[in-house]
This record gives sequence, structure tokens and C-alpha cells, in this order.
Amino acid sequence: MRPPGSTAGAYWGAVNAPEETIVVRGSGPLSGTVVVPGAKNSVLKLMATTILCDGHHELTNVPDIVDVAIMGDLLAAIGVEMTRPEPGKVVLFNTGDVVPVAPYELVERIRASINVLGPLLTRCGEVKLSMPGGDDFGARPIDLHIAGLEAMGAEFKFSHGYLEARADRLHGADITLDFPSVGATENLMTAAVLADGVTTIDNCAREPEISDLCEFLVSMGAKIEGIGTATLRIEGVDQADLRPVAHRTCPDRIQAATYLAACSVAGGELDVVGARGDQMSMLLERFGEMGLDLTVTDAGIHVIAEERARSIDIATLPYPGIATDYKPLIITMLAVADGVGIVTENLYPGRFRYVEELQRLGADVRTSGHHAVIRGVPRLSGAPVKAHDIRAGAAMVVAGLAAEGETRISGIHHIDRGYDDLVGRLQAVGALIERS
Ligand code: EPU
Repeated sequence: MRPPGSTAGAYWGAVNAPEETIVVRGSGPLSGTVVVPGAKNSVLKLMATTILCDGHHELTNVPDIVDVAIMGDLLAAIGVEMTRPEPGKVVLFNTGDVVPVAPYELVERIRASINVLGPLLTRCGEVKLSMPGGDDFGARPIDLHIAGLEAMGAEFKFSHGYLEARADRLHGADITLDFPSVGATENLMTAAVLADGVTTIDNCAREPEISDLCEFLVSMGAKIEGIGTATLRIEGVDQADLRPVAHRTCPDRIQAATYLAACSVAGGELDVVGARGDQMSMLLERFGEMGLDLTVTDAGIHVIAEERARSIDIATLPYPGIATDYKPLIITMLAVADGVGIVTENLYPGRFRYVEELQRLGADVRTSGHHAVIRGVPRLSGAPVKAHDIRAGAAMVVAGLAAEGETRISGIHHIDRGYDDLVGRLQAVGALIERS
């Protein structure tokens, strides 16, 4: 109902205030340096893990993204206060007064909230956590987290949308994951840090962000062997043995790949500083096959894109395979590559929604089940499109660089959740892009 005296325009304007968009007006070759920020999918876990140990923890190379602020709000409700003394740094003060409850309003805002489960349960002996929801690309079950914690002695019950768990003290266990889940590996290893005895996690995830978390925990006083391998062995310690940590977050390989993809479609030459080529080996190999000239140095990755990319076939897999989070970028590169490429998604079968948006830009992409067939066209054609999630949003920006005319991207709050100044970084290397 319209308020008395208001005009239709003013009323609807007030209710549906237009969201900011990102406008891309194509691009010539890119040139210059992009500094890669710290990894979202590491820093959020490091933050959650400060629940284990009282005192002031200091994290550097922290990306300026909305998800860090949301995790900060969740931790504040639990008893860990976050401050940002300077850009790129956060201090997390665990007051020692930890409340093992993660309420719905905070949990539903961020998937990584599930990472408080392991630390809260092992520290407090109980936890009440609102069930995390799915994502736009499909259901995100947590059965592996629960089965692993049950093997360590936890008892779970669900009621009224909340997951409640109890265990006076968790005990060590030999756990083999059915699938190398990132989140389950993280929850089980953080829980094992204060468990009684030794826990082994076999077929665990090996992503670089897992190793970053392991190194953070070791600095805290945890005893972990097998870091970077498919079997982690964690010997439980007492809480009194833990100490607060200062740690530099590992670089974001997905953001690094975004700048490589941008260079691929726009052409040019970039220094992607801070990127860890050794943590992106398989992707770099495939990008090389597509025609990118890549040099890995101690400082980062140097990329030259002189000609139109060639199509390849690619399949997503857990690390060290090609990450599912790279896939929207790869499909966008293939949309303007020479030839036909087939992309197979092995982690989230529903993660193709952004394909409809690419089609609006003139891409020739067909999906069937967990495959996409992409016939490259020389150039896309700008149009209004929507960001459906973080990675799909970044792919729309890259697609805009490959398009003639104007591409206006809405739903950019998704991009802000995980990208630290994507627009500013691309502007600085010559892209015609702005927020408006
Ligand atoms: N799975 C289960 N049961 C579980 C856990 C996972 O069946 O208990 C399945 C999932 O349904 C999925 C697969 O295992 O099919 C992989 O899930 P995983 O647990 O490895 O993923 P996650 O921890 O929920 C993290 C990242 C995702 C990234 C995936 C895969 C964070 C916060 N999220 O999710 O990143 O796609 O690993 O690499 O770290 C993003 O950053 O945009 C993002 C979605």
C-alpha cells in the first residue's frame, strides 16, 4: 500500500532504492600490476579458529570484503571481538567468555559460519548452531562434518532449525572422509586440536587454505602432522597449551585467476603480484595450453596474452585439481576462445546458473547435467546481466571486458562478499570499468 500523499515514483524509489551496479565498457589490452589480496576462504576460517584460544590474535593480508565483516559480527556474538587497526589487518580478541551459540540471523548470511562448529564444540563441550542454508548453486550438506564429530564422541540433535551438539570432551578417532570436503576437514581438525588423544583424517581436503589453517594452528600450539597431504594426524593438547597467534593470510588464488582470465579476454600483459604459482599449478598448465604466456616468479605470476585463446576441455576436482571456483572464469574465457571446449563440473552439479547470463551476452554455451559445451565466438556483446554468486559475479566482469559496448552487472553485493576492490584493481591496469 502506498503511504498517503506520496507519488508512485517516490514511494517505489524509497522501497526499491536502486542497487549500485558495475558498468564495464569493453577493454583494450590490460597493462600493469595487480596485487592479489589475502584469501577469503582462508581468512574466514582463521578468524573462526580464534575461538579456541583466549587473547589477542593478529591477522594480516586480510582482504577488505563484506564476508570478513559478517564473520566479525558472528564472532562478536560468540565472545571474540574484532577490530581493524589498519587496512589489511584485523585483531581478534578472544575474551575467554565464549558463548557456544550461533544464531540464525548471523549464520544465514555466510556459509563459512559452519566453521565455528568444531572450535565451539571442542572448547565448550556443547554448541547450538543454526543450520547453514544452501547457495544459489545448490544444496550444501554437512553430513561429513557431523559423522566425523560423532566418531569423536559428539552427540547431535536437530530441533527448530538448530543443530545442537554435545560432548564433555571429544576423543581422538580415525576418520576417513567419503569425499575430501574442505569444510569437514577444517571442522574436524580444529575440533581435534583440543580432543583427548590422536585423530587422523584420511582423504582430507588439501587446498592451500587448509594448509594455511594448519600452519595457523601449529603457531597456536597445536600438534599437526601431514600438512598438505591427504592424511592429517592431530594430537590433542590442553587449552592451556595454546597461545594467541600473529599470522599472514595466504593469497587468494581465485582472485589471482580472475586477473589472469581478465588478461586472457582483453589481451595485454600483467604482473599478478602476490599470487602463488605453486598453489595454482594445474590451472596454470591449462591456461598455458589455451595460449597464455605465463611465468611464475618469487613475486607472483607474469602473464602475457597476445592472441585469441584456444579452447580446451577441463573438469573441476578437489585440490590439486581445477577448483570449482575457477569454473565461471574458465567458461567465460572459453566463450571467446577459438574452438569448442567442454567443461565438466564434479563438485556442484547445479553450478551453471550464470550460463544464462553469458548467453545474454551472446556466448554459445549449452549445458547438460554437469557438462557445459562452449563454442567460442570472437567477441561478446554488452547487455545488462546479473551476478548470482561471488564467482559468477566476477565472471560477469571478465565477460564485460570481452564484450563490445556496455555490460551492466547487477547483484554486485555478491562480488563485494569476496572481492577486494575488483573494480579499482582493473581500472588501474586500463580496464574501462566503474561502479555506478
Ligand atoms: N559435501 C557433502 N557433505 C558434507 C560436505 C560437503 O556432501 O558434509 C559435498 C558438497 O555438497 C559438495 C562437495 O562436497 O558437493 C564439496 O564441498 P566442500 O565441503 O569441499 O565445500 P565447502 O567447504 O562448503 C568451500 C568453499 C567454496 C568452494 C568449495 C570447494 C568456503 C567458505 N567455501 O566450500 O567456495 O567452492 O570449498 O572448493 O571455503 C566461494 O568461495 O565462492 C565458494 C563457494
